[in-house]
Amino acid sequence: MINLNALALRFVHMSKDAELWILDQTLLPLKEEWLLLRTVSEAIDAIKALKVRGAPLIGVTAALSLGQSAIKGASYAQLLDEARALHAARPTAVNLMMCMDRMMAGIASGKTPEELLGIAVHLFNEDVSLCTRIAENGAELISDGDHILTHCNTGGLATAGSGTALGVIRKASAQGKTIHVYVDETRPLLQGARLTTWELKKLGIPYTLITDNMAAHLMRLRKVQKIIVGCDRIAANGDFANKIGTYGLAVLAHHHRIPFYVAGPYTTMDWACFDGDRIPIEQRSASEVSGVEGVFGRVEWATPDSPVYNPAFDVTPAKLVSRWILDCGVFTGNDFQADRVRQLIPQQSTLQI
Ligand code: MRU
Repeated sequence: MINLNALALRFVHMSKDAELWILDQTLLPLKEEWLLLRTVSEAIDAIKALKVRGAPLIGVTAALSLGQSAIKGASYAQLLDEARALHAARPTAVNLMMCMDRMMAGIASGKTPEELLGIAVHLFNEDVSLCTRIAENGAELISDGDHILTHCNTGGLATAGSGTALGVIRKASAQGKTIHVYVDETRPLLQGARLTTWELKKLGIPYTLITDNMAAHLMRLRKVQKIIVGCDRIAANGDFANKIGTYGLAVLAHHHRIPFYVAGPYTTMDWACFDGDRIPIEQRSASEVSGVEGVFGRVEWATPDSPVYNPAFDVTPAKLVSRWILDCGVFTGNDFQADRVRQLIPQQSTLQI
């Protein structure tokens, strides 16, 4: 019997009778509203609309949704179709594909519905411990008094655990280091302004919100000692995709000689992807750039029918990264070149179901 209570209530929660709930992130910080995901198709809609988001969290949410569908009696053929549809819900974060591949392997090998839900719960719990290890590894790089710039949201709202980049900041602060965070608002969907500020305020970690185009100015004034970001997919050579705007920060950090760190779990590594040019980049709707939408309604600010370009992610080349903070250690570019990272990372989770 799976202990669903073991899914510590965070921002995705499964009740004892396998009801899947998410905190609707599109309403934050103005409204804290939980949303029930009754079917896989509702989960896909929520993932596409970024009601639930962040590379690790969309993976575990998709797995839990599929586990729930199994428990509710879906046939194996239906489960495989649903797994494929979830797999395709967003194209860049490889965690989603990895979670679906593991669920599909379970379906193909004839696991029972309970066992399939067990795999999903395992993926959730695994992410909690991966976050803990990333935080411990990364906190070693943070000094008392650091002002750290971060982009997008990489905390509890993006993972099953304490986060990746934000988890490192959180751990360093818990160790008693005085930390101040500059939060990029993260245009166009404002994950920094809406979500990271919400988390940092709850955690009591001092922060200052800036618009994305203020980062260069702060760096020139030597007000930023470190930059830490998360990732959606790390290629085999260390190039990585993350929220649009990350690459610009890496270039700026290089120019100003500021350490630039990327934090993520091994589940974000894509060994089949040789370099960053091969990472698929999600293109999103024009309406996200031509205006804004929220609990307050919709405001349109662009000239009607303006052509819009809206890639959700960009790729940062490995040569601009100072350190990769992973669950299995902290790595340099030389480690990637010498293939040392691959040797330390499990190729598959050690699922014991
Ligand atoms: O489009 P989003 O909000 O899902 O993008 C999220 C990010 O880019 C995060 O930085 C990334 O998933 C790492 S979070 C642990």
